[in-house]
Amino acid sequence: MNSNEINIAVVGATGAAGGTALELLLERGHPANKITAMASARSAGRKIAYGDVELTVVEAKAEAFTGIDVALFAAGGMVSRRLAHKAVEQGVFVIDKGSIFRMDPTIPLVVPEVNANDIEWHPGIVSTPNCTTTPLVMVLDALRNLSAITAVTVATYQSVTGTGVAAKEELFEQSRVVLAGGTAEPKVYPHVIAFNVLPHVDDFLEDGYSKEEHKMLNESRKILHDETLLVSATCVRVPVEISHSESVQIEFESSVNVEDAKRVLAAYDGVIVVDDPSRNEYPTPLSATGRDEVLVGRIRKDIAHKNGIVLWLSSDNLRKGAALNALQIMDEALRRDAFKPSAQRSTK
Ligand SMILES: NC(=O)c1ccc[n+]([C@@H]2O[C@H](COP(=O)([O-])OP(=O)(O)OC[C@H]3O[C@@H](n4cnc5c(N)ncnc54)[C@H](OP(=O)(O)O)[C@@H]3O)[C@@H](O)[C@H]2O)c1
Repeated sequence: MNSNEINIAVVGATGAAGGTALELLLERGHPANKITAMASARSAGRKIAYGDVELTVVEAKAEAFTGIDVALFAAGGMVSRRLAHKAVEQGVFVIDKGSIFRMDPTIPLVVPEVNANDIEWHPGIVSTPNCTTTPLVMVLDALRNLSAITAVTVATYQSVTGTGVAAKEELFEQSRVVLAGGTAEPKVYPHVIAFNVLPHVDDFLEDGYSKEEHKMLNESRKILHDETLLVSATCVRVPVEISHSESVQIEFESSVNVEDAKRVLAAYDGVIVVDDPSRNEYPTPLSATGRDEVLVGRIRKDIAHKNGIVLWLSSDNLRKGAALNALQIMDEALRRDAFKPSAQRSTK
């Protein structure tokens, strides 16, 4: 069955990640009558443009999933907890973008380029990783072909859309206030984000790391099937609208040549090497925005660690970090016959 023939619900369609899922479905030519846009009761009845037509938002509740084949959940953990299993009970294949199912051992956590086979053991739900983990594991998966990876130290530069629509509006509003000579007030973040940098993404834990930093460790291990991998992350929010960047230091069991690193990265699906510093060519959030690929550059030998490589990456957090990865999981599940759309279920 062609993916354009299935009924898709986007739960959280008025949000940053859900809105991008709709954009991608439009790019793919998915018919509007095969999409159900869902959000909270607050948005029920609201119209969302979908190309030349409008979708009417319906409230996300159990009954709304009748006739749906695939539901992309992007409405936060509470909504997934309340509705994902109820959707599965009705035969819906759920792809969840939030964090609540990611470390559940009964639910696969998938980046198709890395661990597509894991889709096959799904119990009705497949989870997608944090938007900083996704590009990182793609880079690590490519490079571990050269030598086993022992440790990774990463600092992130995360855009405000990673927090959702309200944070984007806050950055714009605070920027206007500051440029007009006023004093900006923080609402979404604990400090002003305009013209600032916050070494704080998600809540802090007892060991001094934040939950986001732990996600990068735990999710990378699960996706790469490597429980010994060490990832020490410092997650930082920056006043950028879209696309996350990461400065990554990777230590290998044996020495890795920079040219080999460039070669395996360039050959990896979904990765583009942009690396000619002499011509000012390297990834930036602006150049990654709107693109499906993870951009990697500044690839160099690490002078502080014997078998180390250092690199920089930028990746669109709303596309590969969220909506695109979810749609790729759907495509892969269809290709592998890993779920039955309702049209096929009813003919049994
Ligand atoms: N943004 C990213 O880069 C990114 C990346 C990976 C994963 N994610 C995940 O995607 C999810 C959404 O994030 P976001 O950044 O898109 O947030 P957002 O812009 O704040 O959007 C939240 C969406 O959830 C809906 N929602 C809120 N409460 C609801 C309820 N009780 N019932 C139904 N819908 C409800 C909102 O609808 P209303 O407009 O009606 O309130 C809105 O559509 C989160 O789980 C996040 O972890 C986001």
